[in-house]
Amino acid sequence: PKDKQVLMDEIRRMKKEKNAVILAHYYVDGDIQDLADYIGDSLGLSQQAAATDAEMIVFCGVHFMGETAKILSPDKKVVIPDMNAGCSLADSAPADEFAAFKAKYPDHIVISYINCSAEIKALSDIICTSSNAVKIVESLPKDQKIIFAPDANLGRFVAKKTGRELVLWDGACIVHIDISQEKLAALRQKYPEAKFIAHPECQEHILSQADFVGSTTALLKYVKEQPDEVFIVGTEAGILHKMKQSVPNKKIIPAPASENNTCACSECPYMKMNTLEKLYNTLYYEKPEIFVPEDIRVKAEASVLRMLEMSK
Ligand code: 13P
Ligand code: SF4
Repeated sequence: PKDKQVLMDEIRRMKKEKNAVILAHYYVDGDIQDLADYIGDSLGLSQQAAATDAEMIVFCGVHFMGETAKILSPDKKVVIPDMNAGCSLADSAPADEFAAFKAKYPDHIVISYINCSAEIKALSDIICTSSNAVKIVESLPKDQKIIFAPDANLGRFVAKKTGRELVLWDGACIVHIDISQEKLAALRQKYPEAKFIAHPECQEHILSQADFVGSTTALLKYVKEQPDEVFIVGTEAGILHKMKQSVPNKKIIPAPASENNTCACSECPYMKMNTLEKLYNTLYYEKPEIFVPEDIRVKAEASVLRMLEMSK
């Protein structure tokens, strides 16, 4: 293995030489975030993927994110550091089972969270992310019947916020549902002055205690803008890298995970599959590359573009 600094320098050099753009989600390793041309939440990342004029998109996140970039920019080469970097939400909705579920509700439209496969996007009418889900549901007529997939926790949060009844697919993020209620209560007792902020993929009993609920970008903005000095953050721990960079004088504490997680905080095992070495190899060999069958891509693109249009 090469020295970290050498790897980072070579990644920067190859990126320029190959006219590649590195897009990274807040949950990937801090060194990768520091190398990225753009770091953001799922909405910001898809907007960047649609707009870039680079020849190659290197997506440091998980598979569905690279796939979304390919759906939006089919003429570009889209590569990701590890093809096995999946997502429990995307895995929770196999296309055939979802198609059968959808068939039971013929008068419903389908709003799907972006954390799903291209096949699910193709079966959906509108895609949403955690930053625009409420707005998108609210923009539809009150009597519009809606299936919301695949994240039931985000769905319940949106239903509560909008007062709408949503038919939910029962998927969940293994990371966000693993926040320990017991340990969180102890932490809040230790830091009674702390604001508790959380991502809407968390369970209802966790969200009901939060002072603020939002996407990763919204959580970051909140920490920057609020005058408070201490925050307990209920989302994947990768977000702490940017938070600590942007508010170095505030105390940022990750919400505690149960014993099941690999660390005391919440870590996504898929996001952590992105390593500097794999990123180097991806730029060097220009693979693994993402491909989406054109018939699926065209249908998936229509539902993602509807979201981008509604998010302007
Ligand atoms: P956002 O960054 O859009 O809030 O998404 C969070 C997430 O879990 C991505 O996998
Ligand atoms: Fe999927 Fe959850 Fe990991 Fe995000 S944090 S990629 S939703 S498993």
